Amino acid sequence: MNTPTITQLYDSPHAVSSHSAYVPALVESLRVDTVLNFDLYISPQGGSGFVLYRKENLPFTKENAEHLQHKDEGRFYIAAADRSKFLQYLERNLTFILKDDTISIEKKSTLLYHSAANTVSQVFNNPGTTKNIRRTSSMVSNISGYVIGNPRAFQSLLKLASHDYHTYTHSVNVCTYSLMIADSMKEFSPGELKELGMGAVLHDIGKSRISDNIIRKRGPLTGGEWAEMKKHPRYGAELLADNKYFSANSMSIVTDHHEKLDGSGYPKGLKASEIGLMARIACVADIFDALTTSRPYKGAVGSFDALMLITREMSDKIDLHVFEHLVLLLKVT
Ligand SMILES: [Fe+2]
Repeated sequence: MNTPTITQLYDSPHAVSSHSAYVPALVESLRVDTVLNFDLYISPQGGSGFVLYRKENLPFTKENAEHLQHKDEGRFYIAAADRSKFLQYLERNLTFILKDDTISIEKKSTLLYHSAANTVSQVFNNPGTTKNIRRTSSMVSNISGYVIGNPRAFQSLLKLASHDYHTYTHSVNVCTYSLMIADSMKEFSPGELKELGMGAVLHDIGKSRISDNIIRKRGPLTGGEWAEMKKHPRYGAELLADNKYFSANSMSIVTDHHEKLDGSGYPKGLKASEIGLMARIACVADIFDALTTSRPYKGAVGSFDALMLITREMSDKIDLHVFEHLVLLLKVT
């Protein structure tokens, strides 16, 4: 049997069920005095053999928290069938967890990163609803409240970001980089930063309309497949067009994040002044994250090499002022 891992909790339901009937989670994800709507289990042998620790619908006490802290490296388990209940609980409580000074930055980052990726995965399944736009909005607030002005938090999220590429984690990464770049440029109001974060996290939402066979293809795309792939900015705009909570600034990122200053981008082939600053920022963040995460058809490039590659091959395509801010951020952290 495979030993369950923390990240398994946040994998797709399919991936979880193929591993184990129980999945581990960090005790820091549970807030004292909240009533849990899922059973808690412990594993005296550390991942094989599970014992019911606390039934659902009971408050989680300080004694429970202290007890679990000392067991199995502060992990507990939930039944795989309760995974979505647990993730909903985590999402509801995340703002408080991120403000809790007793929790380490590494653990906060893990909880934020995986909760955000889970939210994105659900939003991608049903993007245009007001409920999901609101969930995205509170997720962006959590990310910006956590990383802006806190280089250590940004650095620890960066460490998590260097794992395998997935559309959902890529969305979280691009949002995080975009917010950090924009904050360091000092050209945006808090409201505009929020709009930027919303657009960045949903920049690839149009890919939810493209066949998995194209999205997950290991080899190079055919001409026809590539033409379909290039439609994702337009699909994204269509999916979000009717939602009044998704602003024009946010939309500019969805539609223009693949446009390049020299006119070589898509879908419209816009040039320099036709591309707004928010889309330019998301474009740089998107390219950097695409290079520094591994995909089925290519390995990951280190941060330094990625910056060199962008400098060498893309300097007439991207906004160099934006890029300089990314370079400075990575230098500082
Ligand atoms: Fe894209």
